[in-house]
Amino acid sequence: MAQTLGLERLDAQLLLLHALGKPGHDRAWLLAHDADELPDAVAQQFRQLSLRRAAGEPLAYIVGRKEFFGLELQVDARVLIPRPDTETLVEWSLEVLQQPAMPPTTPTLQVLDLGTGSGAIALAICHRLQRSHPNAQVLAVDASANALAVASANAARLQLPVQFLESHWLQRVSGHFHLIVSNPPYIANLDPHLAALKHEPLQALTAGSDGLDDIRQIVAQAPTHLHAGGWLLLEHGYDQAAAVCTLLHQRGFAQVQSRPDLAGIARCSGGQWQGRPGT
Ligand SMILES: C[S@@+](CC[C@H](N)C(=O)[O-])C[C@H]1O[C@@H](n2cnc3c(N)ncnc32)[C@H](O)[C@@H]1O
Repeated sequence: MAQTLGLERLDAQLLLLHALGKPGHDRAWLLAHDADELPDAVAQQFRQLSLRRAAGEPLAYIVGRKEFFGLELQVDARVLIPRPDTETLVEWSLEVLQQPAMPPTTPTLQVLDLGTGSGAIALAICHRLQRSHPNAQVLAVDASANALAVASANAARLQLPVQFLESHWLQRVSGHFHLIVSNPPYIANLDPHLAALKHEPLQALTAGSDGLDDIRQIVAQAPTHLHAGGWLLLEHGYDQAAAVCTLLHQRGFAQVQSRPDLAGIARCSGGQWQGRPGT
């Protein structure tokens, strides 16, 4: 039936495992039980799931989970599905946090994730810092109370001590950070690619006529909340690296640079704040 609907084999296998109540890594079980007859209830459930997938609903929303940086996150239509490319931003974040040059302004590392969605970036960083910096403080912000509900449930399930705050970017944030990291909305309002993303929240995707409205706000606001020597790292669109680097230069960031994603496209840009906070 999944084949008739045109589903990819892997998707069909993952949906069948979900209908059977088995984890996604149990594909070997399917092979070993290839000839088993499905109970009616499971067959019925599998059919429903397959129809949803055939109608274009992302697999992660249907099964309710997505792996990110080795963590299993629960996701639903309230949050963007974390993308593998965003792992580049986490890797870069961990790199700057481990730099010996990171200013020892306070004994604890302070990290801020803006637009946390499912909590992916904040939770991945917090998880990795647990061994090297067990006192690190990670704050995750989102303007969407719905997204924060998903993110805080993920933190509780994974037992990671991330703090959450509902705020329009840095509006309600106080204090200073060694790293501000963000994967903000960056798609232009009329971008034709939006049609393929219709199941994900629009608030997580679009940012004005050129897709840079949110990045402009974050670049403008971040220095007030960065320790001297702290970093701002941003994910952006495949064609926005030059524009984001210009914004960072204009705001007075030093060491402005970009990093490629898994496909080799400059997909994150960032810079170091060397001035005093609040300047
Ligand atoms: C592209 S999603 C990123 C989600 C997550 N960080 C990730 O990488 O998977 C952007 C997130 O920014 C949030 N957001 C949009 N506008 C915001 C604002 N003005 N202030 C704070 N968060 C905002 C959205 O709700 C959404 O969760």
